[in-house]
Amino acid sequence: MLTVKEMNGLEGKRIIVRVDFNVPFKEGAIRDDNRIVSALPTIKELIGKGAKVILISHLGKVQHKLASEDPDKFAKQIKEGNLAPVAVRLSELLNQPVIFVPETRGKNLVDAVNNLNNGEILLVQNTRYEKGEEKNDPEIAKIWADLSDAFVMDAFGSAHRAHASTVGIPEILKSEGKPVAVGYLVEKEFASLSRCVDVKDTDRPYVAILGGLKVSDKIQVIETLLKKCDKVLIGGAMAYTFLKALGHSVGDSPVENDQLDYAKNCYLKANGKIVLPVDSVISDAFNPAIRTTIQTVNAGKIPEGFEGLDIGPRTRELFANEIAKAKMIFWNGPMGVFEQDEFQKGTIAVCEAVTKNEKAFTVCGGGDSAAAVKQFGYMDKFSHVSTGGGAALEMIENEGHLPGIDVVR
Ligand code: 3PG
Repeated sequence: MLTVKEMNGLEGKRIIVRVDFNVPFKEGAIRDDNRIVSALPTIKELIGKGAKVILISHLGKVQHKLASEDPDKFAKQIKEGNLAPVAVRLSELLNQPVIFVPETRGKNLVDAVNNLNNGEILLVQNTRYEKGEEKNDPEIAKIWADLSDAFVMDAFGSAHRAHASTVGIPEILKSEGKPVAVGYLVEKEFASLSRCVDVKDTDRPYVAILGGLKVSDKIQVIETLLKKCDKVLIGGAMAYTFLKALGHSVGDSPVENDQLDYAKNCYLKANGKIVLPVDSVISDAFNPAIRTTIQTVNAGKIPEGFEGLDIGPRTRELFANEIAKAKMIFWNGPMGVFEQDEFQKGTIAVCEAVTKNEKAFTVCGGGDSAAAVKQFGYMDKFSHVSTGGGAALEMIENEGHLPGIDVVR
């Protein structure tokens, strides 16, 4: 795989870089700029080599069918998808101007690209403003490919999407004999997650920790991890589906009733590899405004009218003991409702146990667990914290393959 570091002769060349600037916003302001910061090494490398840098990214979801069905909702999606504030933040981080083109095609964009000087940067408006982006429409892919002399894929978080900006452009450029490469972020993500896929004996015991809401979202990854890991610790809301499937009382905890058979078979087939919570922190209400009580009970003994919102102290210890023995750890999904102070102990305990194990190679697989790692200050203590939730899981599920990286390979 060609890497941005190995690309030479870039002076004056137009390089299109697919980044993932799909960052969270709160009240119109960027809430977490980690994905922008993570793209800086590649951008700086290209500027340093005298390239003309054209950045493209999506932001949020744009459902084009709403344009006719619900114009107000469509207008809201378009407004929220505006990448202009990202250009401002990027410019601050780089301490250099970033030209923002509020269109995805047309004369203004072509002129702006043609007017770029060596070492200058341009950010194109949200790729999802284009109907053809998610369909990998060759028309829009060709329009973007024609803007550039080479392509760099640095959007790890979007590498599981076979869209025009991730797969269409590099396919066209390759067919024209132009270079396509991966950036520093994709290179690092790929190397770290590959290690969790191609497991060496020296990385055993290999322990996976899974949490989050739905079993159904993670069936594929559970199957793959059960084949690769020595232990799979399951916390978070998805644990209640397993507990109910095994005949325990889970009260009003969130359960996917259509996954009970799967969960039971999966647990039995795993032959002791799956470790479930032994106690839970429960409450009579998710909403703190109407909550009257919080208590800790045995995991399988949650009364009606109560739901489990975090793993309890004995589970924290049980999980910490397994984590302490590991030589490699992959973690995806929080252990409880960590956004509420009362239910963050389980997720913090996992952060603490994982990062205390200094002999292990430790990977946090993005999404909510990466947000928790950041919130609780453990970011620098993991071997790797992925910027891509969906992409990291799909890379594990698909044995190291993602369309946006395969096209470069
Ligand atoms: C993400 O946030 O997971 C990536 O940016 C991909 O976004 P998507 O799920 O909207 O394709």
